[in-house]
Amino acid sequence: MARVLVTGASGFIGTALAPRLVAAGHVPRFLVRRPPSPGKPAPSAEIVQGDLGEPATLAAAVAGTDAVVHLGAATSAGRLDPAVAYRVNVGGATALIAAARAAGCTRIVVMSTQHVHLPRPGLYGLTKRMADRLFLGSGLDVTVLRPSLVYGPGARGVFVKLAGLVRRLPVIPVIGPGTWRLRPVFLDDLIDVVVATLARPELAGRTYDVGGPDLVTYNEFLGAICDALGRRCRRVRLPIGVSFVLASVLERMLANPPLTVDNVHGATLEAPCDLRALLRDYRPRLTPLVEGLRRTFEEAA
Ligand SMILES: NC(=O)c1ccc[n+]([C@@H]2O[C@H](COP(=O)([O-])OP(=O)(O)OC[C@H]3O[C@@H](n4cnc5c(N)ncnc54)[C@H](OP(=O)(O)O)[C@@H]3O)[C@@H](O)[C@H]2O)c1
Repeated sequence: MARVLVTGASGFIGTALAPRLVAAGHVPRFLVRRPPSPGKPAPSAEIVQGDLGEPATLAAAVAGTDAVVHLGAATSAGRLDPAVAYRVNVGGATALIAAARAAGCTRIVVMSTQHVHLPRPGLYGLTKRMADRLFLGSGLDVTVLRPSLVYGPGARGVFVKLAGLVRRLPVIPVIGPGTWRLRPVFLDDLIDVVVATLARPELAGRTYDVGGPDLVTYNEFLGAICDALGRRCRRVRLPIGVSFVLASVLERMLANPPLTVDNVHGATLEAPCDLRALLRDYRPRLTPLVEGLRRTFEEAA
């Protein structure tokens, strides 16, 4: 049993993690920017208000905990402002490390991303890569997880946005040829890995790519989502150059654009997602894509 601070607890992954931490016997504490709105079900954890971009708020959040699961980030799910990306992803890492050191909390599980491997990582990948380096060089007992695209039931995040587009649009836009490959990982499987990591202090200092068992092209992934939703998959190909122009225009016009420049970066280059270390050290059960998508949409129905 450990007292575990979760940053990003209100997000796609954080929301699914909370009940699993409780089930594993941990006592979670959630760092949130805004208190939960009245009328919503009471969260299964203590809530502390704070912001990764405001270092002074983190000391109280970490005090008295044994471990941190760091999910909070300015992500590629929406428009990414450079100042916010650096303040939250890089500044937030520095501040969290300092707060953890001061509180004597040595164990940190960091949720990184496959984007850090990309030769042109975009703002999101670049700031996450800088954060990984800070955590791994901190001298704390850090394990870094780098998932491929995470899919599962939820209310927000990259996959939820993509599934929403597939559901709503008569024709699905695909950036470039759609032949880049990914290993979509089922949310439940990623949570298993996080929970297992908390129980394994000997995994400190290590970094793991985390992906599903199916290596698929983006076109195949879209096809699998369409099959799971029982709809025909009609795609239209957007040339890369056009996609960059479109994304930057949409980012300027909309608060929550359906396409961002970082999305285009992520959709043009392939990250390796090498599962060998994960399979060796965790022996995880990795849900096949077809089964995971079926469960995703059953649970969301
Ligand atoms: N989902 C994926 O496919 C995927 C793949 C690879 C890696 N990851 C990584 O997994 C982690 C969680 O991703 P997710 O999909 O759950 O993202 P998400 O749904 O976009 O949630 C992001 C979380 O970060 C919090 N956050 C943002 N800015 C913050 C700030 N300044 N201070 C404190 N909290 C802040 C958000 O809080 P609010 O509710 O206040 O906005 C939210 O709880 C991220 O580190 C991401 O890089 C995700």
